[in-house]
Amino acid sequence: MRLDGQRWLISAGPTFEDIDPVRFIGNRSSGKMGFAIAAEAARRGAHVVLVAGPVHLPTPEGVERVNVRSAAQMHAAVMAALPADVYVGAAAVADFSLPAATRKLKKAKGQTHLTLTLERTPDILADVAAHPARPRQVIGFAAESEDLAAYARDKLTRKGADLICANLIGQARYGFESDDNALLLVWADGQAELAPASKTALASTLLDFLQKNS
Ligand code: CTP
Repeated sequence: MRLDGQRWLISAGPTFEDIDPVRFIGNRSSGKMGFAIAAEAARRGAHVVLVAGPVHLPTPEGVERVNVRSAAQMHAAVMAALPADVYVGAAAVADFSLPAATRKLKKAKGQTHLTLTLERTPDILADVAAHPARPRQVIGFAAESEDLAAYARDKLTRKGADLICANLIGQARYGFESDDNALLLVWADGQAELAPASKTALASTLLDFLQKNS
């Protein structure tokens, strides 16, 4: 099915929260799932804006890419790219950040501990879902190490999304850094499992599902 005339806004990859000019707090998201969804949406004719955290993946053909580093930058880039018909929040956004020191932190003599105080970042998915220009479909992701369905359902309602795509982490073959994944789709009155497959194949199955239920 074609997506001509539709605008898709997709976030992908990790965010890096700088501590000082040398160090940062990051996460293990590879960006592959979000990039695969962006590639598939563009292949079907959508205009795709891909807000990408720091990853070295090539830009999929026909996709408009906006590179960002931090959660705050990703929030600003996503908001600036609205309105859209569909938002897919595949990025693993840092939940906490800190004001980066302009000079490198130095150890004091004999120092045995370092305490960093982090503050909550804005929730991009929740803000897109509550936006006056809310996309028709707002899709989030959830990476969990246990109780997949329950946590996914909680995120669905807490963030006001239409669908959460959840995957178990800590599995040898799937999730972060892997080329394969398996997803549990959770929406208000149902759920469905997408069997293990390559992230490219899963992106295609997910788009079929979204188009059928739009
Ligand atoms: N998300 C976001 N902005 C944030 C944090 C998360 O948009 N500041 C989005 C992610 O892009 C993803 C979804 O929310 O689509 C779930 O992310 P996750 O980090 O698993 O959710 P959390 O709110 O961190 O929930 P918890 O801490 O309970 O795991």
